[in-house]
Amino acid sequence: MNATPAEILRSLTLAQKASLTSGADYWHIPGIDEAGVPPMRVADGPHGLRRQPGDADAIGIGESLPATCFPPAVALASSWDLDLIRRIGEALGAEARAAQVSVLLGPGVNIKRTPLCGRNFEYFSEDPFLSGRAGAAYVHGVQSQGVGASLKHFAANNQETDRIRISADVDERTLREIYLPAFEHVVRDARPATVMCSYNRLNGTHASENHWLLTTLLRDEWGFEGLVVSDWGAVADRVRSVAAGLDVQMPPTRTDHLVVEAVQDGRLAEDQVDAAARRVLELHAALPRPAADARFDPDEHHRLARAAAASCAVLLKNESGLLPLDPSGTARIAVIGEFARTPRYQGAGSSQVRPTRLDTALDAITAAAGDRVTFAPGFTLDGSPVPALAAEAVETARNAEVAVLFLGLPPAAESEGLDRTHLDLPADQLALLAAVHEVNPHTVVVLSNGAVVSVSEWQHNARAILEGWLLGQAGGSATADVLFGHAEPTGRLAETIPLRLEDTPAHLYFPGGEQHVRYGEGLYVGYRHYDTLEKPVAYPFGFGLGYTTFELGGLTVTPAGDNAFDVTLQVTNTGARTGTQTVQIYVHDVESSLDRPVHELKGFAKTTLAPGETGRVGLHLDERAFAFWSVAEHRWKIEAGLVEIRAGFSSRDIRARHRAEIAGDRVPTPLDAMSTLDEWLAHPVAAPLLRPFLSQSALWSADLTPTRRKIIGAMPMAKLATFGVGISPAQLADLMRHYRAQADAAS
Ligand code: BGC
Repeated sequence: MNATPAEILRSLTLAQKASLTSGADYWHIPGIDEAGVPPMRVADGPHGLRRQPGDADAIGIGESLPATCFPPAVALASSWDLDLIRRIGEALGAEARAAQVSVLLGPGVNIKRTPLCGRNFEYFSEDPFLSGRAGAAYVHGVQSQGVGASLKHFAANNQETDRIRISADVDERTLREIYLPAFEHVVRDARPATVMCSYNRLNGTHASENHWLLTTLLRDEWGFEGLVVSDWGAVADRVRSVAAGLDVQMPPTRTDHLVVEAVQDGRLAEDQVDAAARRVLELHAALPRPAADARFDPDEHHRLARAAAASCAVLLKNESGLLPLDPSGTARIAVIGEFARTPRYQGAGSSQVRPTRLDTALDAITAAAGDRVTFAPGFTLDGSPVPALAAEAVETARNAEVAVLFLGLPPAAESEGLDRTHLDLPADQLALLAAVHEVNPHTVVVLSNGAVVSVSEWQHNARAILEGWLLGQAGGSATADVLFGHAEPTGRLAETIPLRLEDTPAHLYFPGGEQHVRYGEGLYVGYRHYDTLEKPVAYPFGFGLGYTTFELGGLTVTPAGDNAFDVTLQVTNTGARTGTQTVQIYVHDVESSLDRPVHELKGFAKTTLAPGETGRVGLHLDERAFAFWSVAEHRWKIEAGLVEIRAGFSSRDIRARHRAEIAGDRVPTPLDAMSTLDEWLAHPVAAPLLRPFLSQSALWSADLTPTRRKIIGAMPMAKLATFGVGISPAQLADLMRHYRAQADAAS
């Protein structure tokens, strides 16, 4: 492309510009032949490249070229390891380049509002801070290879039920504090080349037609300069989409003439078509064409996938140190469960990758422990009853010192396009576990599932539980690495494991009906709900064991500006093995004019320490860590007052606290006559104007009791004037005039 995007744009007809606003085909962003700009290939994402050979389907039915299947987002987020996620992004970018793909369709940073969402395996966390940091690391990695990322699914796409029509009805503060921050952080920090708008409607308007979402917020407020592409099939009305700020409709529907006609008859400004066409041309200019001879090393990527998978697994339980198993011992190990030889390692749908290789845990355990290992499948993946399988597995367990059971959700239980209806593991697997435990109490359960399953009904039958999520193509060998202690399970939960489905925050509101789902739980998603209500959970957010133990102390909090702090901590490995711990910082607002979750994650750091070693962890808490979204003022607001900085190893394992005063943003809340007396008295401009009145008024007489003072303080000034309490209507009008003049002069 020799000419600049602006030059090319000037040379195009309206029809050519309109043609740039929809895909060249299923997998290509359009180009302009006449200007020597060929179409540009895109492919799914997120955890591996799904590059289909031709113009095939989007929903994962067709074959794709082999690519490394890295651990999906559910597992990656559990690593809490941004450097690792970045390295995986780099590897994905390299694979995309080698497959002549210019844009990789990921990451997905939607919040896990409920564990039932069928696509949770593609998303990082129930927490926006962790999701945003993970998403940004991914985008930095992918884009370092000259490949664009596509941040998806923008926005509030938190369920699969009726996903194309449903309106997510979310209040403004909840949107700003829970569902948008991950997108905002990735856009501002990592500048993804593209953003993909979601299928659903947001508060009644299709994301693809939502001008506020795609233009006012994304571009004007967050400064996004890239391209907005639709999710595949998310456009309902071409013209309205272009007007809203959608640049490219995917896949194409051969309706470019609608855009041309709308401009010709004055329903759509040509400027808007120009803006979309310009952004397509700018994307072409920004992304180098992958070189024809670009290659990647599948073995190296497999090794990365294996190391990554080991850091993602979360050890939930490990009674009497059953794990790690002794690699050089003599104990016989019964490996039980079909998943040990037929691994479940990724989810179904558009993200499904055809792996370059596939490790099984059975092979890897056998390679490590040789003929000490016996195997029985125990159950079928489709749940069809074969009683002999269970009986054989119980016998296998009886004749071993340790039984390692590979349980999980069968492939049909979770998929893009479908939500789950319960959190249970299949009954036949649980019956098998109970029977195995009866003959062999040294029972380890390894789980494979793309979203939370409940553990409360059966965990007493397992001495150790390793939550493997879906670990990608090297998950089998990584699991063996962890079981034998060649690697440590360093994963920490990126989502709470509740006791029961009924405890989950969205339970009363999910999945909605009549094409609407009301986010009635508001801000109280995940641990924000459980911790604020002090509800018991099976395993809290941030939790995970390793093979050693840690202490946390020496918390120091140093002001780094009015509303920001530098935090340092000392972590000590108190055990006998080298180990890795993730320190989490939660902020608790002690004094707030609004309801707030009891604490919110605002920082984390992962550190590896030798036995007995103490390491220093340093973190910065910026202003945003203390802000809430003010609906009244449409802005992030920081109130002056006390905050508590909490440091710990999970949201329920806080080891150190420090209270600090923050100055607030010093932006006074605008007042009017319906503002209360207390609001006037708290206002830096209004209070000095008001006080002279009060000092002369009976309102402040000596017999004003604290209760009466409270009642009067909460009354709007206009009503005090109406009732003649301390101020007359004329005095109030005068006061308002002075206040407005001074407030205007100050702003
Ligand atoms: C999914 C997207 C995906 C696209 C292309 C859609 O159905 O929601 O995540 O990138 O298809 O396959």
